[in-house]
Amino acid sequence: MNLCIIGSGYVGLVTGTCFAEVGHHVTCVDSDLAKVKMLQEGHIPIYEPGLEELIRKNVAAGRLNFTGSIAEGVDKSLVIFIAVPTPPQEDGSVDLTFMEKVSRQIAEVLKEYRVIVDKSTVPVKTGEKVADTIRRYNRSGAEFDIVSNPEFLREGSAVADLMKPDRIVVGSSSKKAADIMEEIYKPFPAKIIHVDLNSAELIKHASNSFLALKISYINAVAAICEVSGADVMLVAEGMGADHRIGRAFLNPGIGYGGSCFPKDLSAFIKISEDLGYDFQLLKQVQKINADQIERFLKKIRSALWVLKEKKIGQLGLAFKGNTDDVRSSVAIELAREMMEEGAVVTAYDPKAMEKGRALLPGIKLVPSALEVAQDADALVIATEWVDFRELPWKDIRSAMRTPIIFDGRNLLDPEKMRALGFEYYSVGR
Ligand code: UDX
Repeated sequence: MNLCIIGSGYVGLVTGTCFAEVGHHVTCVDSDLAKVKMLQEGHIPIYEPGLEELIRKNVAAGRLNFTGSIAEGVDKSLVIFIAVPTPPQEDGSVDLTFMEKVSRQIAEVLKEYRVIVDKSTVPVKTGEKVADTIRRYNRSGAEFDIVSNPEFLREGSAVADLMKPDRIVVGSSSKKAADIMEEIYKPFPAKIIHVDLNSAELIKHASNSFLALKISYINAVAAICEVSGADVMLVAEGMGADHRIGRAFLNPGIGYGGSCFPKDLSAFIKISEDLGYDFQLLKQVQKINADQIERFLKKIRSALWVLKEKKIGQLGLAFKGNTDDVRSSVAIELAREMMEEGAVVTAYDPKAMEKGRALLPGIKLVPSALEVAQDADALVIATEWVDFRELPWKDIRSAMRTPIIFDGRNLLDPEKMRALGFEYYSVGR
């Protein structure tokens, strides 16, 4: 099938590439012409495991191409996916400027029946507004259907998530559009859930908020574990073995970050408020998350007494492992707070050094964990990179001035670290 994806960010690029991989012909459109040129020349603007090879392969096979022209994409394709940014505004609400603009641009070039699919995360009832806008600005009288098809991919495992999704949500009131969506997703081994437009939009915000809730829940339990002498990892294991709860997203730490959870929670709270419901539960989820970093800093202060002039090595800047993304990263926040208190922070991240440097002027970055440890008064683990589990700990201990570790992601085994001669602190145990 001929498909068009408008917006070549994380979501658009990964979605377009995976559609091409299963045999569709995909035109990816972006208004940033420099980005389009870069992609045409085979340079990928983001780090995402497996993506670069897949893009090269599908471009070479003639199934994937890039353009700056919406008209070209709309002309060639039966289905148009919108995957533009929907950033947060000051009051937590979602800025839908790009959605509105793209809807108008599609309307202006729409000549015959098309299915217009919203992939971006948007407030409930946005699809209805997209339909109104297209109807208003389209002069040809062409028919179209609107579908909501939210993405659930995680950065760092986006390709795998898309190729093998848990479920595919298709929200539409048109049987014709729903059948076309079935056809597109036929090659993907997943259950397709057909719902109405508004329900599909809500599924996305409700899912992400629930996952964030799980994280805040286990972080609150971790606080109780710390004062009662229990081990939160064992509690999570015991809870997670109940299939109704599940072990995933019960990893305690310094809190969730990234470009989705913080934004989606604020948006869902605001959407609910606008619809007349005070979503207090989610406000608590946010509060627990914000407190988590402060509780961790307290731990560091109580062990080091004074942070001023202390040399602290930080492992991790990305908002989670396997990505170079530092947007709303708690690791960045932690480094910033320690620097503001006068600590001299040296950091290393396997992928996020460049993006981290831009947000942390004055930070010293070094190319390995061992160099981070050199003469350090303490090491802080801020991102759950699996690589950090297997570091040369004996050498690291010898390189440090005082061998103290604050593990903000519970990556390491406390007994093992203590046996190696470290003073070791983590979360909830
Ligand atoms: C999330 C959703 O998982 C995905 O379905 C949606 O499409 C986009 O938002 P992503 O933002 O890529 O994906 O990251 P995710 O893996 O969900 O992690 C989000 C944050 O939660 C990270 O900062 C991570 O460190 C933190 N986290 C995750 C925890 O603190 N504990 C956990 O158990 C899991």
